[in-house]
Amino acid sequence: MNKITIAIDGFSSTGKSTVAKQIAKHLGYVYVDSGAMYRAVTLYAMQKGLISKSDFNIEALIYQLPSINISFKFNKSLGFAEVYLNDVNVEKEIRTLEVSSFVSKVAEVSEVRQKLVEQQQKMGKDKGVVMDGRDIGTVVFPDAELKLFMTASAETRAKRRYEELVERGDAVNFEQVLKNVKERDYIDSNREDSPLIKAKDAIEVDNSNMTLKEQFDKIIQLVKMTIEDC
Ligand code: DC
Repeated sequence: MNKITIAIDGFSSTGKSTVAKQIAKHLGYVYVDSGAMYRAVTLYAMQKGLISKSDFNIEALIYQLPSINISFKFNKSLGFAEVYLNDVNVEKEIRTLEVSSFVSKVAEVSEVRQKLVEQQQKMGKDKGVVMDGRDIGTVVFPDAELKLFMTASAETRAKRRYEELVERGDAVNFEQVLKNVKERDYIDSNREDSPLIKAKDAIEVDNSNMTLKEQFDKIIQLVKMTIEDC
């Protein structure tokens, strides 16, 4: 059976990674969470004191980019690949609200994008990959056979993210999470380099009122149709 590339883009907390993992597992494809890579660079900037609420030393981050090594290692018990920053597993650290509050700023930097896009294209060169992010169908894999654009209302997405953070034991309040979701939507959609836009040939999936099962079934159906057409 032909292997294809599946690009999943959309706003934050639209459940892209959940469905991307399910689809990759079902097909035996590689799943790549491109947002985790931007988050890992953000964590590096935080650890080195390059970014704070009041300051962002972009030049220093660009200068240090060659020292930032991001990799993924498959965790059998979790069933997906975890992200490593300079060989340290940072899968948990990159999901905090603090990283979320800085990541869109870091993702605006063209030099960061260039480095990560190159790595993402290498990871997907043999197809058989499901990658989720903001620019996968537009910039990383403009020729992907299947492009999905996930949407849901900001409130629905904030509720999901809030529940995830609470489950992890993070002390957050809903208003804070909603504010972060809306701010990231704005920055991600309005930045100069590779803004979040729906690719012309992407299929929109609004999952505000869909169960995970309904969403999975719909997307698998689209995958099957795409593979048959290839
Ligand atoms: O998918 P996520 O919420 O983990 O992504 C974190 C941030 O990274 C998001 O606010 C925008 C940025 N991002 C990006 O600019 N391009 C991508 N391909 C993936 C994520």
